[in-house]
Amino acid sequence: METIRELLLPALAGGRRGRAVEAALREAIRSGRLATGTRLPSSRDLARQLGVARGTVTALYEQLTAEGYLLSKHGSGTRVAPFDRAGPALRAATAKAPDWEFDLRPGLPALSAFPRTEWLGAEREALNATPDTGLGYPDPTGHPALRAELAAYLGRVRALPAGPDDIVITSGAAEALSLLADALPGQRIAVEDPSHPGQAALLHGHGLEPVGIPVDDMGIDVDALAASGCSVVLVTAAHQFPLGVALHPERRRNLLAWAAETGGLVLEDDYDAEHRYDRPALGAMRALAPEHVAYIGSVSKVLAPALRIGWLLPPRRLRDAVARAKEMHDLGCPPLPQAALAHLIATGGYDRHLRRTRRLYRARRDALIDALARQLPQWRPVGIAAGLHLVVRLPDGTDDLRLQENLAVAGVRAPALSTYSHAASGYPGLVLGYAALAPDRLRAAVARIASIDPRGAG
Ligand SMILES: Cc1ncc(COP(=O)(O)O)c(C=O)c1O
Repeated sequence: METIRELLLPALAGGRRGRAVEAALREAIRSGRLATGTRLPSSRDLARQLGVARGTVTALYEQLTAEGYLLSKHGSGTRVAPFDRAGPALRAATAKAPDWEFDLRPGLPALSAFPRTEWLGAEREALNATPDTGLGYPDPTGHPALRAELAAYLGRVRALPAGPDDIVITSGAAEALSLLADALPGQRIAVEDPSHPGQAALLHGHGLEPVGIPVDDMGIDVDALAASGCSVVLVTAAHQFPLGVALHPERRRNLLAWAAETGGLVLEDDYDAEHRYDRPALGAMRALAPEHVAYIGSVSKVLAPALRIGWLLPPRRLRDAVARAKEMHDLGCPPLPQAALAHLIATGGYDRHLRRTRRLYRARRDALIDALARQLPQWRPVGIAAGLHLVVRLPDGTDDLRLQENLAVAGVRAPALSTYSHAASGYPGLVLGYAALAPDRLRAAVARIASIDPRGAG
């Protein structure tokens, strides 16, 4: 195995040494040449080995930590984070993993509950209703019928007044974020800490610099955001990913006041707002300040990520730039699946599916919480009122990465909370997705987890 110095030295040959070393380290992690868990030298030590300024190494460690490639923990230095080599982490939950007996990664709805019959019917209707002219190049901002249905749906379900022209249809929430990034070039952008590492990686890939802002049990720390100097922030306000907290009303007010006072922009990723069980619906923030909030939604958690359908409501001042960026990307999303989705929404099939799956997910969540209470009473589930996953808070001092590795050996895929952290200042935990497993499988998974020697996690 090469040493880190040997891996990185070739990058020092040209100019822009800091950037080149950063890219070489990122590539070494992506390609697996640096294995998960590898401990990196201290910044002082690596700077000495490479003959660069210590600040250069500190900056690149910070950057790769923000992107989710590295984990920095007080007291235990910097290590290579668990990384899904199949692709950027936004896709982390998609792959079927035959080696995992229990796959509890968050991010997927119950794919076995996909309404195949209704969707087939909707596709047939959509094709029948599409004239030959509708098979030419589409409206790059999205099928007018879907934009109209979504405008009504968002008003009804998310208390979000919107017209069809406010909406741009995208290839999932991921493309919505890419379009915004392209419309906001070269900025530092605040992201929640913890948050989805794939989002930071995506933003970075589009030339933005993600900056982690701490989240506590009221949501993102707005004072820390204001102090960061960033003018754009990405938040999961209705259901923070991964901690599951809803942004406290006072924080919402403060966040919108921050945006109004500074001319800042809030990107509201409303990725799974429809799934809630024990609390009333929280309206979308965008409704309160449409000029300061870009709203992002998706069918990925309701129907299936494979459809790749999402939507973006940019502030009016960014609409033309976003529409142009969308046209440049791909000339528009495929219109037939959009027409099928419009049909499904218009005929009540989308709502029916949501009612069915909400019952299903609630039963699965309850089974998981019950099994945890019985078998692992010292582990505290948090963020349980909504969503498709929960977080278990582990006793202080637990090394959640080590636990994740021990669970992997036992056939359980359960990501450590610290793999979502930027600065790793929060508590140790596991992020457990429950939507895709039936209650008896969840009970068996918890029994397997409980069979791991807890001292192995300390
Ligand atoms: C918080 C969050 N937002 C957005 C997405 C991406 O959604 P889409 O499939 O619509 O691109 C994910 C995917 O896992 C996610 O976890």
